[in-house]
Amino acid sequence: MRITGRTRLAGIMGWPVAHSRSPALHNFWIEEHGIDGAYVPLPVRPEQLAEALRALPLLGFRGCNLTLPHKQMALSIVDRVEPLAHRIGAMNTVIVMPDGTLEGRNTDVFGFRENLRERAPDWTPTAGPAVVLGAGGAARAVVAALIEARVEEIRIVNRTPARAERLADDLAAPATRMTIRTWGERDAALRDAGILINTTSLGMAGEPALKLDLSQSPPTAVVVDIVYVPLETALLVNARQRGHRVIDGLGMLLHQGRPGFEAWFGRPVQVTRELRAAVLTTLTGSR
Ligand code: ATR
Repeated sequence: MRITGRTRLAGIMGWPVAHSRSPALHNFWIEEHGIDGAYVPLPVRPEQLAEALRALPLLGFRGCNLTLPHKQMALSIVDRVEPLAHRIGAMNTVIVMPDGTLEGRNTDVFGFRENLRERAPDWTPTAGPAVVLGAGGAARAVVAALIEARVEEIRIVNRTPARAERLADDLAAPATRMTIRTWGERDAALRDAGILINTTSLGMAGEPALKLDLSQSPPTAVVVDIVYVPLETALLVNARQRGHRVIDGLGMLLHQGRPGFEAWFGRPVQVTRELRAAVLTTLTGSR
């Protein structure tokens, strides 16, 4: 990498931020396209998020990504929030506009949609109900993407039903029926399903296993895990053995970076096999 007097800057704010794969992702694209740019980790304490965001235009940054714990708090700090991020209640991308104001976006919906399109091109929203495990921030992005795709029915399965109800209320859309299932009903919820998405932390390295019986789901159902450490979760191994098409969590992570990169560095980028391999090496041995 060569830093010049004109290097464009972007980065990721988080606390902690050292675990983030975004620097590996964005700097791969910077190198690949020979861009005079750099993408740096920005460790920012929650109580200093407003100051840090306000400093972006002053320091010449084009913008940044946000990771835990900043994704919600930033909504009330930036000057404009795109409607989608507002509806989801979280933003992961900040764009510094030409006039120095800050715009907040959520690119997780884009990431999920593009990854699904790439990895399961045959999937259609009419394939059957979508079953979403979890009701956290990731689930909200996934549900928003399924609504955007015009899935007719979404079954939300969560340990804490009140959280699932809040999600369904916040994202309610006329063309999609959302139903809530208890955690104990998760196996039965798979009946007739066209797609299953695990958005919980279960199955992630260091977390408890996801106990799920896939026997009631049609073998045609696509099975998606947004966990990417490990890349091959027990859910995906089991689903593949049963003949399901499976999609791991790395692709969503890679695709969600594209809109920010294009806005900051002015170049459209793709998710290639080489990019996957480069980011995969940063996952090895990590949790
Ligand atoms: P994120 O923003 O990444 O989605 P989150 O908001 O912490 O993370 O959500 C984690 C999800 O995993 C939640 O749906 C959570 O269920 P609750 O809403 O009941 O907390 C789910 N989850 C975490 N641990 C779980 C467990 N042991 N059993 C069932 N669900 C679990």
